[in-house]
Amino acid sequence: MIKPAPIGIFDSGYGGLTVFGEIRNLLPQYDYIYLGDNARAPYGPRDFDTIYHYTLECVQHLFDMGCQLVILACNTASAKALRSIQQQDLPNIDPNRRVLGVIRPTTEIIGNFSKSGQIGILATAGTVSSQSYVLEIEKFFPELTVFQQACPMWVPLVENNEHQNDGADYFVEKYLNQLLSMSGEIDAIVLGCTHYPLLINKINNFLPNGIRVISQGEIVAKSLQDYLMRHPEIEQVCSKNGQIRYFTTESARVFEEKAGIFLGTNVHADHLAL
Ligand code: DGL
Repeated sequence: MIKPAPIGIFDSGYGGLTVFGEIRNLLPQYDYIYLGDNARAPYGPRDFDTIYHYTLECVQHLFDMGCQLVILACNTASAKALRSIQQQDLPNIDPNRRVLGVIRPTTEIIGNFSKSGQIGILATAGTVSSQSYVLEIEKFFPELTVFQQACPMWVPLVENNEHQNDGADYFVEKYLNQLLSMSGEIDAIVLGCTHYPLLINKINNFLPNGIRVISQGEIVAKSLQDYLMRHPEIEQVCSKNGQIRYFTTESARVFEEKAGIFLGTNVHADHLAL
């Protein structure tokens, strides 16, 4: 008999909170453990092996806390580590547990947002180089043309709480211009990194009218709701007391302060030693 436990939500840092906020709004009845690997963020510029090992280590910690279902609320980890964890590691660790990512739910519906058939993806260097978005979109919407732009400075701006300051404008405008210079027909842009919605005001300021910006939070939350409905065996092992715990691999005090700002609520966090 498996003991019901919280759903684990993982990100390299604060970005996963943009997804978690929507999950918590849609599915408040469940318990959650959020783990941010802030000590080792950003993941984006790191190589495949490093991202895989960091992600697996964090997933294992969430499993050790009892989680039966873990959401990688991180595109970089979803692109670089998810498949290996699902195919190589889970069968050995515990075939009953599940790890899900954020790229698949996004690419499944992306075609609904574009009329021109030209889509832009803004993501970390790791996600862009993995080609995960291009390959997944090709499966569901082969008629779409996908343009990708890596935005390596955006995650550090968020992790250092500089994303709302004037200095951020330069890098927001720079990467948007680089993407838009690839095609004048792009009419939908995916924020393919869970940190990027925290830059949404600046992104909207620099984009011409008529381009739809797609954040993943609501998409992933709805997809999780749907998954739990389709998988009662997993739903039953998710505990339901509406409780949330936060862990960070960095300073708990700093996490509490910043996560409180991002979520608009008081947060208590604990330090997780790796
Ligand atoms: N939030 C992450 C993502 O969705 C990763 C950011 C990073 O650590 O570079 O890709």
